[in-house]
Amino acid sequence: MVTQSSPTNVMWSSRLMFILAAAGSAVGLGNIWRFPYLAGENGGGVFVLVYLACIALIGLPILIAEILMGRAGRQNPITTMKLLASESNASQFWQVIGWMGAIAGFMILSFYGVIAGWAMAYVGDTATGDFVGISGAAASQVFNQFISDPVRVIGWQTVFMLITVSITARGVSQGLENTVRYLMPLLFLLLVTLVGYSALTTGHFLEGLSFMFSPDWERFSGESVITAMGQAFFTRSLGMGAIMAYGAYMPSGSSVVGTATTIAVLDTSVALMSGLVIFPLVFANGLESAAGPGLMFITLPIAFGQMAGGQIFGTLFFVLVTFAAVTSSISLLEPAVAWVGERLKLSRAKAASLVGAIAWLVGLGSAASFNVWKDVTLPNGWNFFDVMDQISNNVLLPVGGILIALFSSWLLNKTILQEQLKEDTAYLGLWLWLARIVAPLGVMMVFAVTVLAWL
Ligand code: TRP
Repeated sequence: MVTQSSPTNVMWSSRLMFILAAAGSAVGLGNIWRFPYLAGENGGGVFVLVYLACIALIGLPILIAEILMGRAGRQNPITTMKLLASESNASQFWQVIGWMGAIAGFMILSFYGVIAGWAMAYVGDTATGDFVGISGAAASQVFNQFISDPVRVIGWQTVFMLITVSITARGVSQGLENTVRYLMPLLFLLLVTLVGYSALTTGHFLEGLSFMFSPDWERFSGESVITAMGQAFFTRSLGMGAIMAYGAYMPSGSSVVGTATTIAVLDTSVALMSGLVIFPLVFANGLESAAGPGLMFITLPIAFGQMAGGQIFGTLFFVLVTFAAVTSSISLLEPAVAWVGERLKLSRAKAASLVGAIAWLVGLGSAASFNVWKDVTLPNGWNFFDVMDQISNNVLLPVGGILIALFSSWLLNKTILQEQLKEDTAYLGLWLWLARIVAPLGVMMVFAVTVLAWL
């Protein structure tokens, strides 16, 4: 085990807490907002199948790699990579994993805070009955008016970022652990309630189920594969060291593979359950399943507005989304906070405020992309928000993922590897095969296609 260079002495109080925190990171807007609309746009069942394959063959091995390297290094991702590279006699180039991760974290957090702010605003709007009996046209208008108002959008983004920073500032056990301890069980409870509501009241539950699980191969395309893989990274918080940072606080002596599998199952079930909440509502109200990013902010309010109890359940739904976003955003902030704190010798509270303020500032650009900066675009039509989203999700995360898979499986010092996976020797061979070959090749293929499509 690596012990020099003052490893962190902060720990999750149990393996369960680590699982809740990592699941909290994984379960977020990606599951509730992004997954259903991507599934809707990409023909349901086919997309879901490809997504599940990507999760198993690419997502799980990389998740395992991040946890085991984080736990071996016990530092922030940048220092961890530096340490593991020297221990493995590998080039210091591999620190780039940590650096790219911190940058990707900023970029994601900047737009994540904006969308999370929208969801928070919708808690109030739904609770006060703004959507009761609303028509489709009126719902789009409400949404479009809201996002074109910079003051409201930035106001909510600011509230969201303040919550994120104040949790992170309190540290791993007081801040992160206490948050996930309560929010995660509550989130599952809310979700199960909403699935029940959808099943009992819509009369279209089976239609939703069949949309999600019976593949319509006609709609299978290269595009769905690319999107499904990007989603597999995003939803699992992979490729940027977020899970590595959390792994640094994981107690030794528990199985990495078992823990990773639990996180993967939780994350995937939340995505599938969100689909089971949303699609029956969509079909029951004759709405469009391929509505895109507006599915959650336009389509759902219409559906809730038509349903008995929709005001209450709609409010609960947006509360759920907000909780899920909070537990994810704290993990986006964590790697950079841990690094800045150590590097500049700042207290956690100061480091969190500094990093949070910068992320908020960058986020203003994303907030403005829907109003005052709407027409400020690159030649290819991307506004600031699109640049942040595309570069982080389609470039930095996949490249980070490839590097993490390659380093951990080919280069990492074998003694360290065996020590970390000593509870998992039965799976070592399978994991090595997936992490050395299957995952990097898979990601590279999809990555190449994405980049070619841009040129
Ligand atoms: N996984 C989160 C979601 O599904 C988003 C997220 C949190 C994330 N931390 C991350 C994505 C780190 C990439 C990297 O909403």
